[in-house]
Amino acid sequence: MRRSADVVVIGSGAAGLSAALGLAATRNVLVVSAGSGSTPWAQGGIAAAYGDDDPLDHAHDTEIAGAGFCDPRTVRALVEEGPQRLAELIALGARFDRDSDGSLSRTLEGGHDRHRVVHAGGDASGAEVHRALHQAVQLAGVRTVTGRAVGLIKSGFGQIAGVLVEEDADVSQIDARAVVLATGGIGNAYLASTNPSTVRGDGIALALQAGASLVDMEFVQFHPTALFTGDSTGQLPLVTEAVRGEGAVLRDVAGRRIMTDVHPRADLAPRDIVARAIESTMRRDGCEHVWLDARSIPEDTIRRRFPTVLASCRRIGVDMLSEPIPVAPAEHFLCGGIRTNRDGATDVPGLYAVGEAAGGGVHGANRLASNSLLEGLVFGRRVATALTLDLPAASYGQPSWLTLGEDREPDRIRAILTEHAGIRRDGAGLQTALDELESAGDGPLATVARTVVAAAITREDSRGCHWRSDHPRTDERWNRHLVIRLDEEGRPAVRQLLQSAAT
Ligand code: FAD
Ligand code: SIN
Repeated sequence: MRRSADVVVIGSGAAGLSAALGLAATRNVLVVSAGSGSTPWAQGGIAAAYGDDDPLDHAHDTEIAGAGFCDPRTVRALVEEGPQRLAELIALGARFDRDSDGSLSRTLEGGHDRHRVVHAGGDASGAEVHRALHQAVQLAGVRTVTGRAVGLIKSGFGQIAGVLVEEDADVSQIDARAVVLATGGIGNAYLASTNPSTVRGDGIALALQAGASLVDMEFVQFHPTALFTGDSTGQLPLVTEAVRGEGAVLRDVAGRRIMTDVHPRADLAPRDIVARAIESTMRRDGCEHVWLDARSIPEDTIRRRFPTVLASCRRIGVDMLSEPIPVAPAEHFLCGGIRTNRDGATDVPGLYAVGEAAGGGVHGANRLASNSLLEGLVFGRRVATALTLDLPAASYGQPSWLTLGEDREPDRIRAILTEHAGIRRDGAGLQTALDELESAGDGPLATVARTVVAAAITREDSRGCHWRSDHPRTDERWNRHLVIRLDEEGRPAVRQLLQSAAT
């Protein structure tokens, strides 16, 4: 079957649905989705500075959490346009939690200097955001195809001209004048992640193959508190940072506080700092987890604010009302991604990227909590505005099909990345990873793994969530963003060092 659209959006998370909704009135837009991604799993909420809060304070916290490595103009777009996007989401029918006076409840999370995170269903924020956006997209009559994008079509003049989609066993072609990659992060490239299995870096592999640049791929964020279930593979349940925002504290196996001497914000330090402290504690004590002690939080607060976490704990036989919760860090978020400008344009004509798949410098070296749903709303809308104003002209010339390969040994790739490109990395381990990945083929997971390792081995310093135990300090000589493209042999390689992550 052959279809066509003005714009194909790949991915139905916060970013993809925002883009599709923004385009629905002006363009013939079609969404291709392999299922739901991380969005419905989001717990903590959406950060937005409005009323007595100041977007510039939000920008400041974003940049501090990002270890000074964010693109200030991109951050400014995020914090200044965010409240308006949140208001529109509410107008679409999203129901956020409210205080008794009717105002939006705002909670605290790591790295924020004040209560700034709005939430829904207590700790089911993503599900409500997804529900509201999905409903609006359906009401707007946007066509959706359930399937996996397995290739891009490129015209003879180098412009993206469509997508190849695998539906059941068949591959079909969708011609388009623009393709927006909103495929989320790379969780499935690790053995364990908070992300669902649909989030496996396909968009990143597709972009690279089409000739686009990636940036900041070494900055993989580990959430400090995934629930330790005893099985550290697949998607792990999350224990939202907001539990610490309400007063829970991290303890080692002997019951001692972990964060008090590590950072002035203690348990609410930026996420990279907390994850590193937990990793060091587990290594020191030879333990597979630490404890999160939420017993100081009143029972009615826990029941109202954290029903998802309470239920996840119950499923493994832990009563968080009366017992500490076993937690350990897990892969959570990709701070870098496909290099874009602030309107989602990549360096390949006709190809755009938004949301977690994109690396426009908004998160720097470490993302601030609850900035990602906001990123999807803001930059999803921005790409829609850009493509409403200016759709690339139809492309001519003999088209070529750029299809993804197959990963023959996905678990081996995941094991390599998990062992050598986790929270703590070093040159020798990263070199071993590169060597072992040599024989891993050219499927999307192998490609994604190579990009992370290539960037991590090149960056010989530590900042944000890239921690090299053999180069433990931040080195000003590395105040540059690493740009990855395919080399002459078709392998991802660091090709450029740049001042700014955004194009
Ligand atoms: P996703 O929501 O991940 O969607 C990706 C989409 O791409 C999916 O529809 C997927 O099926 C599709 N896709 C992928 N590959 C293909 C392909 N080849 N073909 C077709 N479709 C494809 N952020 C916050 O701001 N606040 C929070 O409270 C928060 N909590 C979180 C809790 C958890 C457990 C997790 C996992 C993440 C959390 N995050 C949170 C991060 C945030 O949820 C994600 O970064 C964000 O939702 C990403 O949105 P997205 O639209 O870019 O991608
Ligand atoms: C959480 O609720 O702890 C996750 C928030 C986020 O990833 O932004």
